[in-house]
Parts: sequence; C-alpha cells; structure tokens
Amino acid sequence: MTETLSMNLNGERATLSPALLDKYNQPGPRYTSYPTAPEWDDAFGAEDLRQAFCEANRKAQPAPLSLYFHLPFCQALCLFCGCNTVISKNRKVTNPYLDHLKKEMATVSENIEPSRQVEQLHWGGGTPTYLSPDEIVNLYAAIEQHFSFAPDAEIGIEIDPRATTEEHCRVLANLGFNRLSMGIQDFNPLVQQTVHRVQPYDLTRALFEYCRTLGFTSINVDLIYGLPHQTLESFGDTVEKIIAMNPDRIAVFSYAHVPWLKKQQGSFAKHLPQGLEKFRIFHQAIARLTDAGYRYIGMDHFARPDDELCKAQDQRSLHRNFQGYTTKANCDLYGLGVSSISGLEAVYAQNWRDLPAYYAAIDRGEWPTMRGMRVSAEDQLRRAVINRLLCHGLVIKSEIEREFGIHFDDHFALELARLADLERDQLVRREDDRIAVAALGRIFIRNIAMVFDAYLQTPAMQQKVFSRTL
Ligand SMILES: C[S@@+](CC[C@H](N)C(=O)[O-])C[C@H]1O[C@@H](n2cnc3c(N)ncnc32)[C@H](O)[C@@H]1O
Ligand code: SF4
Repeated sequence: MTETLSMNLNGERATLSPALLDKYNQPGPRYTSYPTAPEWDDAFGAEDLRQAFCEANRKAQPAPLSLYFHLPFCQALCLFCGCNTVISKNRKVTNPYLDHLKKEMATVSENIEPSRQVEQLHWGGGTPTYLSPDEIVNLYAAIEQHFSFAPDAEIGIEIDPRATTEEHCRVLANLGFNRLSMGIQDFNPLVQQTVHRVQPYDLTRALFEYCRTLGFTSINVDLIYGLPHQTLESFGDTVEKIIAMNPDRIAVFSYAHVPWLKKQQGSFAKHLPQGLEKFRIFHQAIARLTDAGYRYIGMDHFARPDDELCKAQDQRSLHRNFQGYTTKANCDLYGLGVSSISGLEAVYAQNWRDLPAYYAAIDRGEWPTMRGMRVSAEDQLRRAVINRLLCHGLVIKSEIEREFGIHFDDHFALELARLADLERDQLVRREDDRIAVAALGRIFIRNIAMVFDAYLQTPAMQQKVFSRTL
C-alpha cells in the first residue's frame, strides 16, 4: 500500500506513510508515571510510604494535595474495559468498601500536615455513581472531615450516563463537584452491542444537557477509537454527535487491546480495525475536532482553546499524572481505595489491586500498600524530560541543566544520537538549545519519550508487554 495520510495538527502539517506507521506503532508505556508501574516492586511497602508522607510534611513548603479515590464497582462489564473494576449487581457491596475507605482515609490523613490543602479531588472507577446519592453525600462528608479544601479546588468525578440519575448530578453539583468526565466511547449500535455497552445517544445527550444547566465548570467526554466493528463512517458520526454536544474537553483514547491481561477482550478480536485502518479513524477524528475548534493537547486529549489546559500548555505549566493532563503541577498525589496510586516527588506506591487483600490489610490496621518505588535523582531527571515532551512538545536544555545540575548534551549523548532516526522520519527536531517535537511526533509522542526511558533497555522490561503506541 503506497497511500499516505496528510494531517494538520494545530497549524502544522504532517504526512504519514504505512511504513512509518508500522515502524512506530509498537508496544510502549503511556507514561502516567516514570519509572512506569512494572518497575515498582513489593520491596517497597507501607512503612516506606508512611515515611515518605512524613518527609513531605517536613519540607520548607509542603506541596498541596491531589486526592484520588477509586470506586471500583460497575453493574456490568464492558468487554473492552481495561480498568480495575469489581462487577456486581448486589448493591450491598458498597457498605464494606466505604467502611474500609474511611478507615484508610483516617490513617492516611493522620500523616498529613492539616495545613496542606486539597487543590484537586478526583473520584474515578469503575463507576463512582454506582454509589447512591446518599452514599455520595456520606463519603464526601467523611473526606471533608479529614481534609481541608483550597477555595478554587478542582473537584471531579467520572460518570457513566447509564448509571447516573439527575438526582446524582444535582447532589454532585450541590456538594461542589465542578468537573465531570462522562464515559461515552461510541454511539454506533453494532459497536455498542459487541462490547456489551448499550448506551443510547438520546439518554446520553439528555444527561449531558441537564448537567450543563447545573453549571459544572468543565465537562469532558471519553471516546475510544479502534473498537470492534468501528468504521471511518460510523466513528465519524459519533464524533459529529459529540461536536454538537460541545463538551469542554474530549478524550479520544486508542483502544488498548491487552487480552493477556483482560481475557474478555479476546471475544471480538477478529472484528478490530487494525494498523492503518485504525489510524485513519483517529486521523479523521483529529481533522473533525480541530476543524470544529478543539486543540489537540497530545496523548489522545483535545480541549477548547479557552480551556485552562490549552493556556497551561502555552505557558508550559501543563503537567501529567495518573488522571491525565492537569494544571496542578505542584501537588502530591495520594490515592485511596483498591488499586489506587500515590505519587510524591520521590516515591510511587500502589494499593492492593483486589478487594480481599485490600480489606485484609486495613483490617490488620495496616496501610494497604502492595508495591512501590523510590524515585532516584536520575529517574527524576528523566521524568522531567519525558513530562516536558508529553506536555509541551519541547525540552529546553538549559532549563533541565539548571534544575538538575547536569550538562544535557553529555548526559544524554546516547539518547540524542538515538533521536537521529526519529529526526529523519520528521518526528522531532534536535536543535542546539532544545528538542522540539514535530507535528508527526505529537502522534508518536510515546515513541519519543521511550528514547529517554532507561528501563526499557533492561532485559526484564523487554519481556513486559504494553499496548501499542497507537
Ligand atoms: C473508569 S472508565 C469511565 C467511567 C465509567 N466507568 C464509564 O465507563 O462511563 C474510564 C475510561 O477509560 C477508557 N477505557 C477503558 N478501557 C479502555 C481500553 N481498553 N482502551 C482504551 N480506553 C479504555 C474509557 O474511555 C472509559 O471511559
Ligand atoms: S468502561 Fe466503565 S462502566 Fe464499563 S466496565 Fe469499565 S469502568 Fe465499568
């Protein structure tokens, strides 16, 4: 096939050939952290995390807080789902979970200096609105008992329109939630039936419009490209329907096919669009969303130009954490609930990923830490480079040199040499004082970041299997 695809990314043109797509569409991490989670291990435990929390309190200026609560329950499994979920139709499962979550919160908050304010709170899942409105009010009250909030805190929640009532939305707005992220994925009936997620457009649109009347500051919607039976035409229709709804932000995730981790994904494998066919679906979404005025922020995310993510990107203050892109670069992240992740300047840690182990640790009066890692000075340096690539598409060498006391060209001589190949393919430009990501490099940004990942070169890591970069 000799056909090439030409695209316009925020004013810069890029051309992609099938050969380049093959070359760069390889398994690779998504860099929600660096070092990435497969590097963390159980040599790092609860006491290490507790000590890291105490050290964070003792800093001259302790960082503000970003809190993440994982609410894992869903009524039924969507077959594509790669999240950490607990599927149950028995609503009583929430009682023990909320009890344990409150115990965890009490222990964690005892180790956080009370003057440190919460600047960001996020409830993710699973489906947080699996909780009843009363349970939501009750959990929120417990959080307020243990933590104090900055007046302009970002308070967000993921909602599944199929499991969310107008009452849920009113309760959330009254509590002070100001950000919603709505799971949509695809409006096509055949795609929806195949992935066991039937979600009518009318129901979704009605809930979306209702939320608008409640005055949430920002509404995001999630779509996935590369789902079974998706075609250019069918996904184009989904994208048009989304544009008509006019959300503030849109995530167009690349479907992550990992049947060795999520067996149920195997059921529709033969109907998946692949390679150039899958990429064309994304390419069309980029064209339609940018024509409609959205800006491509990077790594699957789009936002209106007046959205604070765009402003932060222009000012090079944009940051990335486990919840995606954020303007809250300076926060320490504390994750509560099953499988949740905490990320401090020099530490990552993850809670037990299954309910019995999570409950058992809390019942023993312990922190439910399963694994983690101390982030070395070299890791922090590489993380800074990777984050700048992912968030700003630009690394200014002198900034890194000042921050980390290194000579960039000497320290990264090997990496700069490896970038030569990506420069020939027009993904990146190596200049004297900077590394600039080119338009095509914004699509293959994970591949550029991978050049700076010291762990990918180790034999253990080469055996890990990630999803493909596109
Ligand atoms: C926790 S869910 C969102 C909330 C809610 N459970 C729902 O589905 O509406 C987070 C998002 O992850 C994305 N997601 C889940 N599995 C995925 C996969 N295998 N590949 C790409 N994105 C995926 C979906 O877009 C989903 O909306
Ligand atoms: S996509 Fe959302 S609703 Fe579906 S199983 Fe995953 S977490 Fe649950």
